[in-house]
Amino acid sequence: MDAANTSSAVYTVQATGLNLWYGDFQALRDVTIRVKPGIITALIGPSGCGKTTLLRCFNRINERYGNVTTTGEITILGKNIYDRDVSLSTLRKSIGMVFQRPNPLPISIYENILFGVRAHTPRRAFNRRQRDEMVEAALRNVQLWDEVKDRLRHRGTDLTLEQQQKLCIARLLPLKPQVILMDEPCSALDAEGTERIEELLDTLCRDYTILMVTHNMAQARRASHECIFMLLGRIIEHGSTLDVFLRPQQAETAMYVSGHYG
Ligand SMILES: Nc1ncnc2c1ncn2[C@@H]1O[C@H](COP(=O)(O)OP(=O)(O)OP(=O)(O)O)[C@@H](O)[C@H]1O
Ligand SMILES: [Mg+2]
Repeated sequence: MDAANTSSAVYTVQATGLNLWYGDFQALRDVTIRVKPGIITALIGPSGCGKTTLLRCFNRINERYGNVTTTGEITILGKNIYDRDVSLSTLRKSIGMVFQRPNPLPISIYENILFGVRAHTPRRAFNRRQRDEMVEAALRNVQLWDEVKDRLRHRGTDLTLEQQQKLCIARLLPLKPQVILMDEPCSALDAEGTERIEELLDTLCRDYTILMVTHNMAQARRASHECIFMLLGRIIEHGSTLDVFLRPQQAETAMYVSGHYG
């Protein structure tokens, strides 16, 4: 994909000098990255290099895992997310996350979409018509509306895996997230499901900054505009996807994208 016309964009997410330790083990080392809006940025690198750990810094869910120490700075739309006045609930509302296994709640499709909104807004903030519109808009945005409009009261967990993953993306949208983090979002899907999710991401990235971890080189190459290559907790290279794959600057990147390790 062509990353042209993005160079003047303001960065949505920036990490500067970020270090993270699980106990004594340092998993991130002096990570500095700038993520642009309007494109898909892929985070690639061998197993254990720290991709998930880095992704989880941006909504601060690493802190749930205990014994985690972080130094450095992360700003999202210019705001330092470690500032004392940052509410974790507000942060997680504006930074959506999608996981490897689709994880809809065992409630109706309709209520899955509204779950986040209900958690973040006062009771009766929206009337029935507004709620219906929110559900329809979210499902249309992930190209799921036509498939499920006649069974909105069925359980989200009864859908196919591809539909479940679309539902998990859709339920973020009523919260108007600024960033959507995805940790190997297609790894539970077959090739066709993967292709349709990639098409969907290509549309969604116009409105949301998307940072996606993938260990699938072909997917990174097909579906992302920029790639960040990590190794042993460090950023080795960040550039347009074409450059990273065809003209890598670092020897480690060249080895990785040509399949020598990972
Ligand atoms: N909760 C944790 N406690 C201790 N160590 C952890 C924890 N989570 C991850 N690690 C370690 O931190 C390093 C980075 O792990 P991480 O899961 O971020 O890698 P990854 O690049 O996402 O790997 P994969 O491709 O296998 O998903 C690994 O050495 C891992 O064992
Ligand atoms: Mg991971």
